[in-house]
Amino acid sequence: MDHAAIRYLEAKRSIDDRAMADEVLATVRRSLPPDPTILEAGCGTGTMVPRLLELGITDGTYRGVDRDETVIAFARDDRPKELRNGGRQVDVSPRGFRVDDMAVSFVVGDALDAFADVSDADLFVAASFADLVPIPALLDTITTALRPGGLAYLPLTFDGETVFQPDHPADEQVIDAYHQAIDARPGRDARAGRHLLHEFQDSPGELLAVASSDWIVRPRDGVYPTDEAYFLTRILDFVESSLSNASPPVPDLADWLEVRRSQLAASELTYVAHNYDLLYRTAGD
Ligand SMILES: C[S@@+](CC[C@H](N)C(=O)[O-])C[C@H]1O[C@@H](n2cnc3c(N)ncnc32)[C@H](O)[C@@H]1O
Repeated sequence: MDHAAIRYLEAKRSIDDRAMADEVLATVRRSLPPDPTILEAGCGTGTMVPRLLELGITDGTYRGVDRDETVIAFARDDRPKELRNGGRQVDVSPRGFRVDDMAVSFVVGDALDAFADVSDADLFVAASFADLVPIPALLDTITTALRPGGLAYLPLTFDGETVFQPDHPADEQVIDAYHQAIDARPGRDARAGRHLLHEFQDSPGELLAVASSDWIVRPRDGVYPTDEAYFLTRILDFVESSLSNASPPVPDLADWLEVRRSQLAASELTYVAHNYDLLYRTAGD
């Protein structure tokens, strides 16, 4: 990953904030013990830390893992500055920082094995992540790392529905091919949201809360908020790179991309991606 990816993750933040279901966040807050141990898989630039603090979770320990060292370096450098600018007490250490009464660290590693040393976590977070890794391995990681009665919070889990507006005649073939290209990559599941919903429903613990958390990106008064136009630029790039070598080729892909990019430049493009926020409590509290 590179600086473009950092910018993409930071641009995604305002979209995530609009999308995340308040009632699921409130249930996380209500269900957590004091001084919680929190783990995050695929933490990216660490945007969950300010969210947890905003929610009133200001003590305990947080450890975020991402396999990309550039996003971890950004998280270590930028999150403390942001929190300090926001008026919080922050003390920086080599691998992280202390903010209010929470010890925060960001670590480079594969989230499916970086938590092998933990079996008593109170909260396991994975945001915009479950569609990127094999679901059985993720569920094993979660249940091993959590204590009995621990919480798994998986917000913004993609569920394989994508909308672009206005209509284009090639929408159906491009979008179907895009989802199929995601599914064709090892370990990926474009419909991770509904599959996790079913897995949690069928597991011995309890699905405490579930809600839709669709990303909706649209211009307002002729402009996209904050850096959301950049987010859309990257989404169109993802579609292009997923399908550029498709076999058989996707007819009309070039025209579709050209039209979508012009609509984006003219602030006329709307994009929706269907996600779920899931909150599961493991059995045995
Ligand atoms: C879509 S981003 C989401 C980042 C962050 N959770 C957010 O919502 O802003 C997915 C992140 O997962 C990371 N990732 C993907 N597979 C991983 C793995 N197996 N272990 C650790 N990180 C991984 C990527 O590097 C990327 O930063």
